[in-house]
Amino acid sequence: MSSRRNFLRKAGMAAGSLPFLHFSDPAFAARAAGWMDASGGRTELPADDEDFWSWVRECYTTSPNVINLNNGGVAPQPKVVQDAHIRYYQYCNEAPSYYMWQILDQGREPLREKLAGVCGCSPEEIAINRNSTEGLNTVIFGLDLKAGDEVVLTRQDYPNMINAWKQREKRDKVKLVWLDLPLPEDDEEKIVRLYVSAFTARTKVVHVTHLINWSGQILPVRKIAAEAKKRGIEVIADGAHTLAHMDFRIPDLGCDYFASSLHKWMSAPFGSGLLYIRKEKIRNVWALLSNTEPDGPDIRKFESLGTRSFASEMAIGAAVDFHEVIGSQRKEKRLRFLKDYWVNQVKDIPGISFLQSKPAHQSCAIATIAVAGKKPEEVAGELFSKHKIHTVAINWENIHGVRVTPNVYTSTRDLDKLVRAITAMKV
Ligand SMILES: Cc1ncc(COP(=O)(O)O)c(C=O)c1O
Repeated sequence: MSSRRNFLRKAGMAAGSLPFLHFSDPAFAARAAGWMDASGGRTELPADDEDFWSWVRECYTTSPNVINLNNGGVAPQPKVVQDAHIRYYQYCNEAPSYYMWQILDQGREPLREKLAGVCGCSPEEIAINRNSTEGLNTVIFGLDLKAGDEVVLTRQDYPNMINAWKQREKRDKVKLVWLDLPLPEDDEEKIVRLYVSAFTARTKVVHVTHLINWSGQILPVRKIAAEAKKRGIEVIADGAHTLAHMDFRIPDLGCDYFASSLHKWMSAPFGSGLLYIRKEKIRNVWALLSNTEPDGPDIRKFESLGTRSFASEMAIGAAVDFHEVIGSQRKEKRLRFLKDYWVNQVKDIPGISFLQSKPAHQSCAIATIAVAGKKPEEVAGELFSKHKIHTVAINWENIHGVRVTPNVYTSTRDLDKLVRAITAMKV
């Protein structure tokens, strides 16, 4: 029986008994099909169980005509998240100050708890905000640093954070110590040694990008943080790409500060994010926007954003629920499976090279490919114009290639098309 028919048969058990719940409650459908057990625990399924993943695909509303392989930029939301967002938005428009400030606002503390569950930390360490840029800029601008204090960062970090640090350099005379990461790098210890070689007695902060967005390389944050801790250096981790992509707990990274964008791998509404700060460090960071206690110990001081979209914020809860139906571990396995699925089929083609390190744990969904004799934008252009496959050309420092990022809704059939397109390219 085809994967799709199998899926419909299984999910139909749900639809048959309670048709109004058909697909609108992912947890219900997943339980009915045996993909989740009654207690909410997850049945472990292999990463290539196409029945389960075709059900996940059905939960999204992505284009049937364009294959979106730039999920590294921003991810679409499953229908259940879009519906929650629209529903909350419509409530707000019935009587904004009542629904926003008296009704929806009551969801913020339960949402904080939910997010803390995903992050493996205390709710008192999570601020809900709009994106990684906001979270990381809050820390970069909020730390007390004086002229001559050193900050270690790399040329491969994200531009918004590089620019924030440059602003501190210009304004406060903080000294920026630049590293140039020799990516791809298979030897994690070499990367750790590179960071350590830049540490001096004046180093106050190290800024580490958990997953380099240009190429997909995962950096050993835990090991770098351990070395930094020995020297009393604070650690900021840019987790824009890792939360809900890989299965880990933030406190296990050993960093003091971590921010992520929930519109990436959590598939939450566009413009949603979080900032984690280790409890005892919250006092060290000044609130970026005004607050009655800007140097206080309450993480909520980072949430005085003024009027913002309550509807999109509250719909984050639906995204977390959907993420948990899939399960962090199962999602990571599937994403790695999808990356390997296409990479293994094209890696030996002459003229094709990858900007990935070889050890499996050093990359997950994202892979960046270079085609000899072609500029990245030519390759991305050809993939789109001839095959309607959307990717992104990368030209940043030492990284030049086309980044390909599948997501949980990507089918192996989509990737077969990518493989055929790459194979047909004239090198
Ligand atoms: C490594 C990294 N950090 C930060 C960001 C910024 O994310 P946002 O635009 O959601 O603030 C991105 C965005 O792609 C990123 O890749």
